[in-house]
Amino acid sequence: MALGQQSFLLPVPTGSLLIPETAPAATSDRDFQTNRGQKSYSVRFSLIIPTYNEGKNIRAIVSILTNLLDPVLPEDYELIVVDDDSPDRTWEIAQRLMVEYPQLRVMRRTTEKGLSTAVVRGWQAANGEILGVIDGDLQHPPQVLLKLLAAMNDGADLAVASRHIEGGGVSSWSAVRRFLSRGAQLLGLVILPQVVGRVSDPMSGYFMVQRQAIAGAALSPVGYKILIEVLGRGDIKEIAEVGYVFQERREGESKVTWKQYVDYIKHLIGLRVSRGRIGRIRQKINFPIGRFIRFGAVGFSGVFVDMAVLYLLHDQSGLGWGLTRSKAIAAEAAIINNFFWNDAWTFSDMSRQQRGWRKRIKRLLKFNIVCLMGLVLNILLLNVLYNTLHVHYQVANLLAIAIVTFWNFWINLKLSWRVTESDN
Ligand code: GDD
Ligand code: MN
Repeated sequence: MALGQQSFLLPVPTGSLLIPETAPAATSDRDFQTNRGQKSYSVRFSLIIPTYNEGKNIRAIVSILTNLLDPVLPEDYELIVVDDDSPDRTWEIAQRLMVEYPQLRVMRRTTEKGLSTAVVRGWQAANGEILGVIDGDLQHPPQVLLKLLAAMNDGADLAVASRHIEGGGVSSWSAVRRFLSRGAQLLGLVILPQVVGRVSDPMSGYFMVQRQAIAGAALSPVGYKILIEVLGRGDIKEIAEVGYVFQERREGESKVTWKQYVDYIKHLIGLRVSRGRIGRIRQKINFPIGRFIRFGAVGFSGVFVDMAVLYLLHDQSGLGWGLTRSKAIAAEAAIINNFFWNDAWTFSDMSRQQRGWRKRIKRLLKFNIVCLMGLVLNILLLNVLYNTLHVHYQVANLLAIAIVTFWNFWINLKLSWRVTESDN
């Protein structure tokens, strides 16, 4: 079977990092004939292999995993490589392996980056009832998978390979690396004891979890440590741990830098806040507060553009044009300014999925219409508040601006920048 017949790359899921309750209805590259004989889209186990520059390791790990899992889960598992557009083209090497390994699927991400979101995007595309993750550099001994699977079959919601229980350890880490890993764990116990304290190796990136235990949870992992995200947001009751020795890397090098440690602290604090009272309320309201704050900041910059252009056009020291004409041009200049910053910053994750000038012009026109409708609404509200409710005109204007800002934000989020099926 030549490359290309059955070696399509998986489409990259976009939008929120929610794990679906059921496996995706259709697979993009092939149908799985499960061991039950009938055509089905679900398998017992999906194992994500996140890769960045693992070109020298990928063939070995796919071969070892296949030889290990074929006997225990004949045609009832899948391996999903999620590569972040590695410079060594790991994704392409993996894609070529698909011809030899029918259980292998490959995803190449080119915009979103990072280990933990790679794992979540892999789980979103996965068809398994059990979702797992293993490093792609053979530092996680594959045979431990069988013990983890046995624990899952015995009813665990989560089975973690741990370096810090009997049978665990690290091959030859430097004292600094050991200190940093243990230090990170201690910090986790201080900031988020009820999560980090549930397992002996919260830094582990080698585990498997029941899909139902994390399905529907709004995941928002940061950096390297996907396990604390699963512990923090999943519905995890039964946890099993299996000791393993973290191996020496054979090829390539670790991608861990100081940035992963900073991300880890940000992740802990984010989890702590979101599990607190404010976080639970925010999750209930589910209002994109961060995005709204950015939208407000952009709107504020538009006020300065409006005032400056009005001054240049209307003031005697400028062009001395009539007030209405000057104001109309100033308002439009502010709208274009606001569109540019909203497209590049506030809604950048959505506009990145709608590339091309034609789509951008379309977004600008929609944004314009929404803002002009907002201007009309602003004037109506100002009159009702001032003439009917006798509110002081300055207070009335501020209230009208605040209400219209919500209107502009929400309609633009749902209309101008909404990513439609045709954009994917
Ligand atoms: N897709 C993707 N994107 N994969 C990545 C990225 C990324 O940004 N960064 C690293 N990876 C992949 C690597 O290719 C490797 O397969 C795996 O993630 C682990 O990366 P390493 O750079 O080798 O990490 P490590 O050896 O220092 O291991 C530490 O982190 C792992 C991941 O959390 C240890 O804490 C391990 O226990 C842990 O599993
Ligand atoms: Mn490694």
